[in-house]
Amino acid sequence: MSDTKTGLAIETIFSADEISERLQALAAEIASKRPQNLLVVPILKGSFVFAADLLRALYAAGLTPEVDFLTLSSYRKSRISSGQVSILRDLDLDVHHRHVILIDDVLDSGRTLAFAKDLISARGAEKIETCVLLDKRTTRAVSIEPDYCAFTCPDVFVVGYGMDVGHRYRELPFVGRLVD
Ligand code: IMP
Ligand code: MG
Repeated sequence: MSDTKTGLAIETIFSADEISERLQALAAEIASKRPQNLLVVPILKGSFVFAADLLRALYAAGLTPEVDFLTLSSYRKSRISSGQVSILRDLDLDVHHRHVILIDDVLDSGRTLAFAKDLISARGAEKIETCVLLDKRTTRAVSIEPDYCAFTCPDVFVVGYGMDVGHRYRELPFVGRLVD
């Protein structure tokens, strides 16, 4: 498709149907482990669409987790990450003794998820798992592997399905890449 305002072309990488099908399988996989005392934590902002769909798939798979949100910033201006991660908005809930599943859109350098894992761990969570929509496997700066992953993604900058460039394109129902 071609964006009418900017003239940028967006090439679909993962379609809405592919994502939907994959999320049912991912939710079934998570539910099959019968997690107890589960708290699902979407890392905002980029994961909000993925998390909303995954949570409803988890419900369909028989889970009734609690949900709380963590907003992190990796000081990402445009397409480059600075490497520093900070908390913009913290959780309301206590994670002590809980099984926490962190949800993120993209696992790229790994700094964001590693930071979130360390934070939740320091607060006494009993078990911490990670679930990402996209794993860019070739771009890690820190060593971290996701426990659950919907898709392996090529090392290109992607938008849509919650992900943005300059606060745009989050509304797209698919994951795509900007074609310059
Ligand atoms: P990391 O800390 O380098 O792993 O970066 C992870 C965060 O950077 C993700 O939560 C995304 O919000 C953002 N990010 C990484 N790659 C992309 C991309 O291709 N498009 C949009 N956001 C991205
Ligand atoms: Mg993010």
